[in-house]
Amino acid sequence: MTTDSADGGARPAVAGRAPYPAAATPSPSPDASSTEQEPLLRIRGIGKNFGPVQALADIDLDIPAGEVTALVGDNGAGKTTLIKTISGIWQPDRGEIFWMSRQVHLHSPRAAADLGIATVYQDLALCDNLDIVENMFLGTEILRRLQLDEIRMELAAKRTLADLSVTSVRSIRQPVGSLSGGQRQAVAVAKAVMRQAKLVIMDEPTAALGVTQTHIVLDLIGQLASRNIAVIVISHNLNDIMAVADRLAVLHLGRLAAVGPASRFDTQAIVDLMTTGTSSRLGGEPTAEEPARSANGGHDRQSDGTHAGEGQ
Ligand SMILES: Nc1ncnc2c1ncn2[C@@H]1O[C@H](COP(=O)(O)OP(=O)(O)O)[C@@H](O)[C@H]1O
Ligand SMILES: [Mg+2]
Repeated sequence: MTTDSADGGARPAVAGRAPYPAAATPSPSPDASSTEQEPLLRIRGIGKNFGPVQALADIDLDIPAGEVTALVGDNGAGKTTLIKTISGIWQPDRGEIFWMSRQVHLHSPRAAADLGIATVYQDLALCDNLDIVENMFLGTEILRRLQLDEIRMELAAKRTLADLSVTSVRSIRQPVGSLSGGQRQAVAVAKAVMRQAKLVIMDEPTAALGVTQTHIVLDLIGQLASRNIAVIVISHNLNDIMAVADRLAVLHLGRLAAVGPASRFDTQAIVDLMTTGTSSRLGGEPTAEEPARSANGGHDRQSDGTHAGEGQ
């Protein structure tokens, strides 16, 4: 765990991060207008057991478009189980998932991907022996007269990387195996963007990276949000979280200990919540929380205006 004692709750702007534009990427959904106030993804009452282990219990979480939600928690808190549930890898035992206001059943990773949910895993499903363009188009190659349309693919790859302000890659014909960790992440994220992902999930994206590479990835996360893409990022690094997160969701022993705007949390509050599930240090006004859960009485861990579940 890395803590940031210097600046507490202050969140330095990530370079290149624009304020959230209302509609940087127009939604192709036919009911986009009616979902403007709705979160992109809404999770209600999700529970998941592995045998006797209750990995997730009663999770309510809203993931808005154009914002970075950091998912934090100690080892075993349920972070990976939660994102695997959102990615269609695990099916929840209880609860409901709504995508753009419609209830969905994410039976498989494919079902999640088809909705526009892209997960960038730590081990990054990229092929080292293929170059950047080949990786970005693997499985979705552009053809022209039964041949690969290399020029169009190169242009699209270049444009996407440029749009994301990824400038550190020397040649898009470079094999991915020769890239640094940060650059590999950039390729994986660019691939998701090219496939019109609406939600990008990243599990510990900076865990293995040095300072410069971490900066590349944090910038990239900001770029995604400024394109109105929702981002869920799991991180143990509180510096990274404070730099990039708009919202925080803290898991403790499979339950959501707190969720809210990042400005309400300082590092000590995060550490308290991660280790004990509660904190008396949460600042600011509680946001308008979703009414369905506020009356639930089931497991109120907080007496300080922190909410397990948020609608905004
Ligand atoms: N495939 C699995 N089989 C059995 N137990 C699991 C499995 N995956 C996770 N768990 C258990 O669920 C709990 C949450 O794990 P996980 O989601 O990996 O936590 P985190 O990612 O926050 O470290 C832990 O107690 C873990 O041991
Ligand atoms: Mg994990």
